[in-house]
Amino acid sequence: MSDNREPKQFVVSDRNLALELVRVTEAAALASSHWTGRGKKNDADGAAVEAMRIAFDTVAIDGTVVIGEGEMDEAPMLYIGEKVGAGGPAMDIAVDPLEGTNLCAKDMPNAITVVALAEKGNFLHAPDVYMDKIVVGPNLPDGVVDLDASIENNLRNLARAKGKAIEDIVLCTLERDRHEELIAKTREAGARVRLLSDGDVAAAIAACMGDSQVDIYAGSGGAPEGVLAAAAVRCVNGQMQGRLLFEDETQRARAQKMNPGKDPDRKLGLHDMAAGSVLFSATGVTSGTLLRGIHRHPTHAVTHSLVMRSKSGTVRFIEGHHNFNTKTWTPQ
Ligand code: FBP
Repeated sequence: MSDNREPKQFVVSDRNLALELVRVTEAAALASSHWTGRGKKNDADGAAVEAMRIAFDTVAIDGTVVIGEGEMDEAPMLYIGEKVGAGGPAMDIAVDPLEGTNLCAKDMPNAITVVALAEKGNFLHAPDVYMDKIVVGPNLPDGVVDLDASIENNLRNLARAKGKAIEDIVLCTLERDRHEELIAKTREAGARVRLLSDGDVAAAIAACMGDSQVDIYAGSGGAPEGVLAAAAVRCVNGQMQGRLLFEDETQRARAQKMNPGKDPDRKLGLHDMAAGSVLFSATGVTSGTLLRGIHRHPTHAVTHSLVMRSKSGTVRFIEGHHNFNTKTWTPQ
């Protein structure tokens, strides 16, 4: 791909682009599905990365990876700064080719492949650190929950706003030692806790979907995953806040360098993480709350994807039937 093309005037409302993105997450999901349940998370991830990278070559954008597989010297493909796409409007890309590598390796629910696009400069450049996150769905008063409020207050406010008893509120979080206090306080307040072994992007989106029976996602997970979740939450008009968590000054300095002029410790609103018009696509690898996983048949495979655009607020669930007659699926 040459770098001297003229960037074109771009309107992210381009509907076709949203559908092109589905091919990208489908390709990654189909490739990683060869590894489902085989106990080899790195192979599953590698297959997803390679397929996603190849599939991007057919997408009409001049894309730059801003959330990817790591730095150029640590990731062979989809590294931060890598240029992808067949040429077109200049766009920033956030990817998680296989979100929930362990889930795929162990054939457990909720492994998905994820891509989000935004016009240049609209994604937070998140380093590979943890982010504290809180997410609730649409049609709730602004600020109904807040990262700086106590979990008890957040649960009470949310229950009141939803017209539910606090006993019927379900909080979802990753099952980690660092969440012991959050889990204990949630249960003491009378609410329920749904624990996840991995996969907080799907969980954050589930908190915004009426039929998921999750009312709130809270806790810390990967910061890059936080940006992807923010893109999805924007599309469904939910609420989300985040804050980067640093273990040392080197991590803080890195975040500062990646986002010059910004306070790395600030509380991040949805638009600090994913601004402007955004497109989001995810495909299920293993079946979960959000999406059904890949169904493999002798001659074809069936995929289930979710594609969303913030501009229209459209949420589409797409079922794809893909023919293959060799063991290795390659994008057509
Ligand atoms: P991977 O797909 O990279 O394995 O990430 C899975 C995940 O569970 C994310 O969804 C989450 O944000 C992060 O890991 C949590 O990190 P940790 O396992 O260190 O708590």
